Amino acid sequence: MLEIRDVSKAFFPHTVNEKVALRDVSLSLEDGDFVTIIGSNGAGKSTLLNVVAGRYRPDLGSIWINGHDVTRLSDHAVSRYVGRVFQDPMAGTAPHLTIEENMAIALSRTKWRGLSLGVSKTRREIFREELQALELGLENRLTAKAGLLSGGQRQALSLVMATFTAPSILLLDEHTAALDPQRAALITRLTKETVARHQLTALMVTHNMDQALQLGNRLIMMHEGRILMELAGEDKKKATVNDLMAEFGRITDGTGLSDKTLLS
Ligand SMILES: Nc1ncnc2c1ncn2[C@@H]1O[C@H](COP(=O)(O)OP(=O)(O)O)[C@@H](O)[C@H]1O
Ligand SMILES: [Mg+2]
Repeated sequence: MLEIRDVSKAFFPHTVNEKVALRDVSLSLEDGDFVTIIGSNGAGKSTLLNVVAGRYRPDLGSIWINGHDVTRLSDHAVSRYVGRVFQDPMAGTAPHLTIEENMAIALSRTKWRGLSLGVSKTRREIFREELQALELGLENRLTAKAGLLSGGQRQALSLVMATFTAPSILLLDEHTAALDPQRAALITRLTKETVARHQLTALMVTHNMDQALQLGNRLIMMHEGRILMELAGEDKKKATVNDLMAEFGRITDGTGLSDKTLLS
C-alpha cells in the first residue's frame, strides 16, 4: 500500500551547511496500518512525511503508493492519494472561505475530482454527515467562515477535509501539538475514530508518547535520519512511556535524554 524504499534526503548537499535528514529509510505499510512516529527534534520525521507527500524529492530511493511509483510526481499529483493535517491549525483551512467551500476544495484535490460523490446525496448532505460525526455542531455552520472557528475546531475541520475522501494514505504531523491539552485530547479521540471509520492507512508524527502508544497498531522511533526501533501488535499494546524512554536512552547512549521534546 505504502512502500518507502531506501530513501535518503539531504538539504544543501555537498556544502558546509549540509543537513542529512533521512539516511536509507525503508518502511512498508499494509492496508489499514496506522503507524505512529516519535523521535528527537530534527530526527527527520517531517521530512519523511514530506517525501511521501511529494513535497520533497528523495536523493536516493523510491516511494510507492498502491503499487504506483510516485517518487517523481509533483506534490499536486500525489495529493490525490494523500490527506494531510499539519501542526498549525491555520495551515489546513482557508479562513476567508466558508466551511463548505473549504470542504469543496478538499474534494476537488482528490481522486473524486470531477465525480459526484453519491448518486442520491448532494455534496452538502455529505459534508453535513461528515461534520456531524465530530459532534462539535459544525454541521449547522456550513456557511460560516473557517476563520471564525477556534484552533481545535479548525483542526477538526482539517481532519475531516483530509479524510472524508478516503485517501490512500493519511499524514498527520504533530497535528495536536499547538492545542491546549483538552483540545488535543479531543483531536486525538477524533483522529482515532476517523481513521477507524474510514479504515485509513496512516502515518502520525507526535511528540506525545502517550498518544503514540494509544493510537495505531505500529510505532517507530526515529533518530538522526534513521528508524531505530519499531514496535507492533502485542509489544506495542504492552509498552509504557517508561519503556519508550528507556529504549530511546539506550539507542542514543543517554545523549538524547536531554531532549525535552521527546519527553513532553
Ligand atoms: N526545508 C529545509 N531546509 C533545510 N534543512 C531542513 C529543511 N527541512 C528539514 N531540514 C533539516 O533536516 C533535518 C530533519 O528535519 P525534520 O524532518 O524537520 O525533523 P523533525 O520533524 O524530526 O523534527 C534537520 O536537521 C532540519 O534542520
Ligand atoms: Mg517535524
